[in-house]
Amino acid sequence: MEPEAVGFETMLVTGGAGFVGSNLAISFKKSRPGSRVIAFDNLKRRGSELNINRLKDNDVRFVHGDIRNPEDLKLKEQIDVIIECSAEASVLAGWGESPRYVLDTNLTGAINCFELARRHGADILFLSTSRVYPFEAINRVETVETVTRFEWDESALTSIPGISDKGISEEFSVSGAKTMYGATKLCSEIILNEYMSMYGIRGVINRCGVIAGPWQFGKVDQGIVALWAAAHVFKRDLSYIGFGGKGKQVRDLVFIDDLFELLKIQLSNLDACDGEVFNIGGGPDMSFSLLELTGICQEVTGNRINISAEPEGRPGDIMIYLSDLSKAQSNLGWQPRTDVVEVVDIVTGWIRDHERALYQVMLP
Ligand SMILES: NC(=O)c1ccc[n+]([C@@H]2O[C@H](COP(=O)([O-])OP(=O)(O)OC[C@H]3O[C@@H](n4cnc5c(N)ncnc54)[C@H](O)[C@@H]3O)[C@@H](O)[C@H]2O)c1
Repeated sequence: MEPEAVGFETMLVTGGAGFVGSNLAISFKKSRPGSRVIAFDNLKRRGSELNINRLKDNDVRFVHGDIRNPEDLKLKEQIDVIIECSAEASVLAGWGESPRYVLDTNLTGAINCFELARRHGADILFLSTSRVYPFEAINRVETVETVTRFEWDESALTSIPGISDKGISEEFSVSGAKTMYGATKLCSEIILNEYMSMYGIRGVINRCGVIAGPWQFGKVDQGIVALWAAAHVFKRDLSYIGFGGKGKQVRDLVFIDDLFELLKIQLSNLDACDGEVFNIGGGPDMSFSLLELTGICQEVTGNRINISAEPEGRPGDIMIYLSDLSKAQSNLGWQPRTDVVEVVDIVTGWIRDHERALYQVMLP
């Protein structure tokens, strides 16, 4: 599919001061200079305030508001497209504390955004997560251990629907515990489907694995590539947490600009992908273990840091996650292009360019 004809006059990006939202808002504005792009955010995420000037410099209007509050979402502009990127994006949200914020934002707040879409007749692209797939079922897949990473045992993959050596596909069962973060995202997906069915809203759901790139204010529970790169630049200690403390857990990664290309394709072909769900990531070719990420960060930064082992894991953590991209590749002709080393290189360059501002924000 061709990404050329992205047609909208006014786009609303919720979570628009966050990592994904700010990058997408600016990229969409640049791709369509005559359009209006509004970034809406309550600045809950530490560091997101650093994006306000950047948004303004790129002619994106910033609105300070909270998606939990329907009144804040009463915008005077007619909205054509909503990119829903606002969230409490931590998988640890609600552990050992009240889940109120994650429930109110990721579920009730998301519904408020769908309501806005209904009132305006706007199209919606929803940023969901690979965390809708249950962690116990994924961790039950037998693994083998290599020198630098865990891998799925190939012989175990044939008997489980939705998983293969290409990764986890949209067919993998969503039944089972998935963290409050994953559960709120899945509930929102279900409600969005009802909005699409009842009110004729066009929409697409993207279940993303790790997304990485500049302007991600990485922390231990979210934004692993930025966290790792920053720790190497600033020479701060890290830990390999869980799965024996060896750093062999594996993720795939999609670069933010590759994600933008995907959304551009979806927006310009909305009739064809209306109502579809896609697993989005880098796939097995763009995957890394923490141990491998350390090696890449050492190469790129020239620095070595202390990394301790914490064998005991965090609740809900996953040993291996790889996205099966087959559906997005075959239906949309989309292909992630930027590999892990390039992403680390770009993120490191960004950190070095903004060392003073990021030193405090990116504490491990
Ligand atoms: N970054 C990833 O690796 C990743 C992976 C899968 C899915 N996602 C999804 O992508 C979306 C964007 O994630 P991100 O990485 O940019 O996270 P982020 O934390 O950088 O951005 C989210 C933004 O939402 C804002 N926000 C939080 N609560 C809000 C509220 N109640 N009202 C208004 N704004 C609020 C935050 O201040 C923040 O700026 C999220 O929906 C997340 O679940 C991200």
